[in-house]
Amino acid sequence: MHNILARRASLVKASEIREILKVTENSDIISFAGGLPAPELFPVEEMKTVCQAILAEDGMKALQYSTTEGYKPLREMIAGRMRALSIAAQSEDILITTGSQQGLDLSGKVLLDEGDGVICESPTYLAAINAFKVYSPNFIEIAMDEQGMRMDELETALEHNHRIKCIYTIPDFQNPTGRTMSLERRKKLIELANRFAVMVIEDNPYGELRFSGDRLPPVKSFDTEGRVIYQSTFSKVLTPGIRVGWICAAPEIMQKYVVFKQGTDLHTSTFSQMQVNKFVELFDIEEHVSKIRQVYRRRRDCMLEAIRREFPDYVTYTEPEGGLFLWITLPAVINARDVLLSCLQQKVAFVPGGAFFPNGGHENTLRLNFSNMTEARIVEGIGRMAGILKECKNTAAES
Ligand SMILES: Cc1ncc(COP(=O)(O)O)c(C=O)c1O
Repeated sequence: MHNILARRASLVKASEIREILKVTENSDIISFAGGLPAPELFPVEEMKTVCQAILAEDGMKALQYSTTEGYKPLREMIAGRMRALSIAAQSEDILITTGSQQGLDLSGKVLLDEGDGVICESPTYLAAINAFKVYSPNFIEIAMDEQGMRMDELETALEHNHRIKCIYTIPDFQNPTGRTMSLERRKKLIELANRFAVMVIEDNPYGELRFSGDRLPPVKSFDTEGRVIYQSTFSKVLTPGIRVGWICAAPEIMQKYVVFKQGTDLHTSTFSQMQVNKFVELFDIEEHVSKIRQVYRRRRDCMLEAIRREFPDYVTYTEPEGGLFLWITLPAVINARDVLLSCLQQKVAFVPGGAFFPNGGHENTLRLNFSNMTEARIVEGIGRMAGILKECKNTAAES
């Protein structure tokens, strides 16, 4: 096997944590681990109507191959939604992708050579690290605070590293921390990208899931030089199983994405694309998203209240204004992987934070998801975790 596989195959390995977390598929586990939307909010009945309408009106088209760029009416609809966010997009600026995860994979292919610098938030989205890692880049992590990525550190990194290709950022309710980048920093980010001539990948799957405060304009809305590759998805506002996302970028770079996408899957499922478009045509997606927001807001509040009440006071946590996750920091002596093993014995799961740092470390952190469990299970799960955390500190202090 050793001689047969490409060198890059040795760069990727199955995550040990992912293996451990396979048990979360059992329904008796209280899982704060995945990034799964609440399935009870999926519009199953509406999707039956949508599929029947498509097959009755346009069945042959829905089941046929289609263009790589995507289904034109869907691209038009998405461009309209982008314009509502102050992004000057036309349908030609939109490429439909098979989930926004494909956008990340394509960005790696289009932008990265071995040794190129990728700047990212510290921590950042695990599957983006894995998608980029295949191209052997140099990850430069920028610390965050409550306002998101620190711009003073970003500026220093850009000054000192001469092979930076792109800045990867999740400005809204970041995965994994739940933090949001402030308006001032969004403007500063684009100013620095322009000054140092680097690209920005703005990954925004959660922007619509804001529970409080005002929505902030995307970084892309300040982009005057075609530097921002914006990507988003219907995974969190409709359903992830349908696998429809998109990229919005300047035409010159988009051509390259299209060619690479051809090599990957020719095009995103025609039927899926038509389903998303028909759903928006027949139903009120804003009303649907508003229902999701209400449920997630209650779950976030419930998790935060339980944490405040139950967790020992040496635990710190973020208080996200939207999205799916919050982030926990434990004292440096506690390893979140050990905590996970104890929690699994009590049938509670989460993701240890170390995996979200491309250059390692930070084993005293962890990510909690609040979208996928009922309030009763959240209270129960946080209670069980609290008991274990109290014990861990005592054990660490003794050793
Ligand atoms: C930050 C971020 N980007 C991209 C994705 C991929 O989403 P999808 O491929 O379902 O659109 C996710 C999924 O959780 C995510 O959290």
